[in-house]
Amino acid sequence: MGKVLQIIGITVGVLAVLGLIAGGITWAVLANRSPEPPELRPLDWWEHCVLYQIYPRSFKDSDGDGIGDLQGIISELEHFPDAGIDAIWMSPIFESPMIDFGYDISNFYKIHHEYGTIEDFRELLEKAHSLGLKVLLDFVPNHASTFSEYFEESEAGNPEYADYFVWADGYPDPDNDTNRLPPSNWVSQFGGSAWEWSNQRQQFYLHQFAVEQADFNFRHQPVRDEMINIMRFWLDEGADGFRVDALPYMYEAHPDDHEGRYPDDPLSGMSQFESHQLGYTIPLYTKDLIELYDVVYEWRDFTDEYQKEHGGDTRVLFSEGYANISMTMLYYGNEAGATGAHFPFNFDFITDVSAESNARDFVYVILKWLTYMPFGAVPNWVFGNHDNNRMPTRFRETMVDGINALNMLLPGVAVTYQGEEIGMKDGYVSWEDTVDVEACNRGDEDTYHLYSRDPARTPYHWNNSTSAGFSTSEDTWLPVAEDYMELNLAKQKEDARSHYKVYQALSSLRKHTTLSHGEYDIRAFTDNSFYLVRSLRTYDTLVLVFNVAAEASDTIDLSRVPHLQLPATVYVASIHSSRDSGTIIANNIVTLGPGEALVLRGPPI
Ligand code: FRU
Ligand code: MG
Ligand code: CA
Repeated sequence: MGKVLQIIGITVGVLAVLGLIAGGITWAVLANRSPEPPELRPLDWWEHCVLYQIYPRSFKDSDGDGIGDLQGIISELEHFPDAGIDAIWMSPIFESPMIDFGYDISNFYKIHHEYGTIEDFRELLEKAHSLGLKVLLDFVPNHASTFSEYFEESEAGNPEYADYFVWADGYPDPDNDTNRLPPSNWVSQFGGSAWEWSNQRQQFYLHQFAVEQADFNFRHQPVRDEMINIMRFWLDEGADGFRVDALPYMYEAHPDDHEGRYPDDPLSGMSQFESHQLGYTIPLYTKDLIELYDVVYEWRDFTDEYQKEHGGDTRVLFSEGYANISMTMLYYGNEAGATGAHFPFNFDFITDVSAESNARDFVYVILKWLTYMPFGAVPNWVFGNHDNNRMPTRFRETMVDGINALNMLLPGVAVTYQGEEIGMKDGYVSWEDTVDVEACNRGDEDTYHLYSRDPARTPYHWNNSTSAGFSTSEDTWLPVAEDYMELNLAKQKEDARSHYKVYQALSSLRKHTTLSHGEYDIRAFTDNSFYLVRSLRTYDTLVLVFNVAAEASDTIDLSRVPHLQLPATVYVASIHSSRDSGTIIANNIVTLGPGEALVLRGPPI
């Protein structure tokens, strides 16, 4: 501070002299000049939104059958504006035999009966829109349920649908005349061969996921047309866009390019895996095929065109897929000028960071996305979803507020998975109660927990009443997690300090121009702590400091944070912090307890 004043003093002195020389005019102009606020680019609704994933089966049950439903969601829609959330996306709500809890769709145009009707959906949309919320649907293009009409007709050989799926003859089994061998060694995501024999059609069909999820044949134009029809149908109903499922698996290698054979995936060489287990092969011919991106770019052209034709706000596409950074970035578009998804979900905090990570790992993983992202694109941050252990379980309960703060203070879109706003942890689900197809197929009584996605899908904790207020029934489709009496939304609204209150403070801070438009800088202080500073000329500077260590306190020097001028105020602190909102930080040297996070607000630069 002293130094800065001194420099200003010298500058003013020099300018004064110059000004005098120039006849006093320059001096007068410079002395009165206060910094101009920057010109701000207007943002589209989605570019800085808080996006919330609802897992409909577990959000709120309205009819007491122990299964969440659309009327349940409708009854709790006020939760979103209360939490400062701008948009919701719902895991699939379409007709499904529920082998993969909605990701196996039997009718893409129909609402699943346990969830409600098209009228319920319309009511949901209308109420959400009246609250200013955008509503995104889950679009699942890679596969359809084997109970869908598409598949049934295809299996029956109806010429209209015959090529809708990936059918292949396979090979005679030299050891058994009545048996046929699958066309390749491809392994399904849920274990076992990715090829299943159809007695009816006397051919194999491909399924990259469950046996009951048959992969569409994207080389067949009518399939691609049908995907557009599905999207158009729901956009006509008023959906604001789609989260698009499992894109890396859309295409597989074709025999025409491989001497008439489906090529085997190379073996990983990892001896712990047997040939039916995921991990036995490297998915060279079954994942991230370059053809898939053109389809995504076509979809973007379609949604852009749709908006041009029908008006209204931008209809968005947020793409889902776990892939390496270059294949992930291609979803945004390519250097030839094609535009794809508005963004691909950023899963780096799920795949590359954990409770063991140190501050440098956090910084590195954030900079990784920002480094590889195409110029002008919008980043996004995801800490959990229905496929992975919940954020407070993968990290630590003490880190919940720091992580939510990081999510909210980083540039771009903050994504929250149902329950993260109250710090919900994984629920315990016994082997007997386990229903996830991945766990049931890949695991047994001793190993299912390694694969099961059920713990991240247990019902939402609304309050401390029956089934945590999720359902009036005690018999819910997955058990309610045991900690709901202490950990629930109603309690957190009452407690003086709670994860929810921190979340609300953060989401309201997001309206601040520094966060929507400001620059960022992020760096580790030490192995334990890092800072994220957001700054914008004439607007307050906002800084997150976060000690991610499990046990160690850490002393940091705030003079290392660019653009932060003391005294600063604690805008919000993690709930275990000894500091409260409003605390003045006047000293550069600050000691952070393990897991402690502070959001500081300082004067403009
Ligand atoms: C995400 C996911 C899973 C589902 C799979 C197939 O990877 O949504 O939840 O099982 O795709 O649709
Ligand atoms: Mg219900
Ligand atoms: Ca596929």
